Amino acid sequence: MSKKAVVLVTRKLPQAVEARLARDYDARFNTEDRVYSSDELVELAADAEAIIPCHTEKLSAELIARLPKSVRAICSFSVGYDHIDLAAAKARGICVTNTPEVLSDATAEIAVLLMLGAARRVYEGERQIRTETWADWSATYQLGLQVTGKRLGILGMGRVGQIMARRARGFDMQIHYYNRHRLAPELEQGAVYHDSVEALLPHCDFLSIHCPATPETHHLLNAQRIALLPDEAVVVNTARGAVVDDEALIAALRTGKLFAAGLDVFNNEPSIDSRYKELENAFLLPHVGSATRETRDAMGFRALDNLDAIVSGLEPRDRLA
Ligand code: DGY
Repeated sequence: MSKKAVVLVTRKLPQAVEARLARDYDARFNTEDRVYSSDELVELAADAEAIIPCHTEKLSAELIARLPKSVRAICSFSVGYDHIDLAAAKARGICVTNTPEVLSDATAEIAVLLMLGAARRVYEGERQIRTETWADWSATYQLGLQVTGKRLGILGMGRVGQIMARRARGFDMQIHYYNRHRLAPELEQGAVYHDSVEALLPHCDFLSIHCPATPETHHLLNAQRIALLPDEAVVVNTARGAVVDDEALIAALRTGKLFAAGLDVFNNEPSIDSRYKELENAFLLPHVGSATRETRDAMGFRALDNLDAIVSGLEPRDRLA
C-alpha cells in the first residue's frame, strides 16, 4: 500500500471535511483551532506535501521561502487569496488553489443582511431590547432608510456581485456596477455599467463592495471617493477590509455623510479599528460571509478536490499559481 501524503491543516475544518482528510491523507489537524505563528507553521509543515490554510494564515514570500522542500501544494480553504504571495509560491514550484463559486450564495446573503440591517438601524433596535431601553413606540423614532426601489451600486461584478444584484432585484432596486470588464448583456440583466469607480459612485444610494483585495484595490474607498457618493448613502463590505480606508469611512459615518455602513470584513481582523464599535450607524459582523454549514462543507470539499488532483498529478480545477 502506498504511503498517504502528509497534509498540514492549519485550522479546524468541518467534521465531514476532516473525515475525508483523515481517510485519504496523513493529515495533521489543529485540534485547538488556534492561529499558528510562522515558526510553528514552518515546523508543522515538515515532510508535508501540502498545506490547507485559511485566510487567517499569512503566507508571505518570506514564510513561503522557509517552507520545507516537500511542500508542493497550498490548497486554501477560501476564495480570497490575498493572504498568499502567489509569485513566491510559483517561483518555488508550489501549486496554489482556492475555492471559488461555492461561497457566493452565502456571501451574498450576508451582503443583503448588512444592507438591510444598516439601512434599518438593526444594531440600535436590537440593543434597545436587550438593554431594556426601549421606552415606547413612536411615529418618529428609529427611522431608517427604505431599500425598495433605491439604486444599488456594485463594485466588482464577479460571482458574488452578480448574485447580490439578483437578490437586490427582489427589492426592485436599480442595479449599477463597475467591473474591470463589462459583462455580457445576459449577465448584466439590465444593470447599468460604469467604466470607472468614480463614474459609479454618484449613482449609489447603496454601495456593496465585492472586489478582491489586490494592490490595485487597496483603500479604494477613500475620502475622495466617499465624497462622490450621494449624501446619506449606505456602504456594505463583504469582500476584504483592505479595500476600505478606515480613517475615511469612520469620518464619513461620524459626520453623517454616510447614513450607515454594514461591514463583515475589516483591516487587521480581529483587532479592528476600535472606533467602529462606538458608531451607532455601523452594523458589524465578524467575517461570517461564508459561515453556513453547507458552504463551509462545500469549501472544504472543493479544497480537497484540488488537493486530490495535484497529488494524482492532474491539473487542479482552481489553480491560482
Ligand atoms: C474567503 O473564502 O475568502 C472568505 O473570506 C473566508 O476566508
